[in-house]
Amino acid sequence: NASSADDDPLEPLREAAHLLRTTSTPVAFPTETVYGLGADATRSAAVKGIYSAKGRPSDNPLIVHVSDLSMLRRLLLSSFSSSPEKSQQPPSPSSPSEEEDDDPIPAIYHPLITRFWPGPLTILLPLPAPSPLAPEVTATQRTFGARMPASALARSLIALAGCPLAAPSANASTRPSPTTAQHVKDDLDGRIELVLDGGACAVGVESTVVDGLCSPPMVLRPGGVGMEELRTCPGWEGVVKAYRDRAGEDGEAAPRAPGMKYKHYSPRARVVLYESGGGGRDKWGEGDVWGLVQTETEMGEEEGKKRTAGFIRTGRWPVAGGLRYSGLGEVIVDGEGEGDKGFVVKEGQLLGENGTETVARLLDVDLGGDVRGVAHGLFAALRELDRLGADVIFVEGVSDGDDIAAAVMNRLRKAASDIRA
Ligand code: TXA
Ligand code: MG
Repeated sequence: NASSADDDPLEPLREAAHLLRTTSTPVAFPTETVYGLGADATRSAAVKGIYSAKGRPSDNPLIVHVSDLSMLRRLLLSSFSSSPEKSQQPPSPSSPSEEEDDDPIPAIYHPLITRFWPGPLTILLPLPAPSPLAPEVTATQRTFGARMPASALARSLIALAGCPLAAPSANASTRPSPTTAQHVKDDLDGRIELVLDGGACAVGVESTVVDGLCSPPMVLRPGGVGMEELRTCPGWEGVVKAYRDRAGEDGEAAPRAPGMKYKHYSPRARVVLYESGGGGRDKWGEGDVWGLVQTETEMGEEEGKKRTAGFIRTGRWPVAGGLRYSGLGEVIVDGEGEGDKGFVVKEGQLLGENGTETVARLLDVDLGGDVRGVAHGLFAALRELDRLGADVIFVEGVSDGDDIAAAVMNRLRKAASDIRA
């Protein structure tokens, strides 16, 4: 190898794979959904490193990421070994055939795999016996979640490491999931050694978690693949929701995906979610916004500190900046700066009745009317408003649907849940 380590673009990838193979320090890597914090799923010490870096409760199982189907099949046949001699053997004619009958991957998943892999879908599989996976991966479950990420960088890393990677999202526990390498550094700097930078994640919300081992099949966590897409697959026409993100909604009280019961996706700021169709606050009105901003600002008054209110809009409701609050105050948009996140944060002030006194600082983000764009920018917007010092973030929900909107609303309801109870 003639080129020096510094100018070889593949060096970070090689270093990451080397760390994964030889140490128990987890490595952060990009996927198309969110950044993951990965470790060799077959070694307990390595998997424990994930839980301690994140500060994550260890009863919450991790998703196992594979580079290809043959890696998954070897896992299911308990014939997986992370020793290089074994794992790098080319498939022999006696290795499992891909015919329906001998395939260790249950047939119910075949149409899903064909249609959505590699991609933002996690499937639950029976834990093989003996299990090649470290027990810490599955916590107390008798199944494990597996996914083949669409990100070529992620799949290259897994292939080079030569082992399946257990990986949760690479945020500190309870924080919004990271969709850029910088988000990972903001949360985990000093706790991990390497973040592989693949730019901003294309999807922006986590994978859909499905259980096809039960009847009818279930969605345990909404994500990048919508229910309406799942329903088009043979055997999945009757797929049901097994998660609940609204009080009073039908569904199981105890979520089937253990991770769904924890506080999640929360910025430091309080999140106030507006959603139409009951459940939360409906569309914001001028007085409403004013009243909420005022309530929040009064809380800060004692310290003599002006409060900052953030707005995340999704394309339907009026701009916070530029609105006139008939005699109550006025919002002036005066600053503007674009980051690498695909949205602009506009800054303004809310003026008091005299028209001169600043009552609050306002930060305004418009994620646009396309729900995929909202999913893409959502976690970054929450983090950005946090970073800019928002005390409260008002979020305009999207209409619930059987597409990625379900994932967006699920994450938002969780982020806002401390005030929705
Ligand atoms: O998009 C994603 O899925 C990202 C990227 C990094 O791949 N990963 C991710 O992992 O979101 P994590 O650990 O943050 O969320 C995994 C979810 C949790 O809700 C967990 O409870 C559920 O999947 N899960 C994992 N294994 C399970 C199992 N055997 N049974 C039920 N739920 C499971
Ligand atoms: Mg997570």
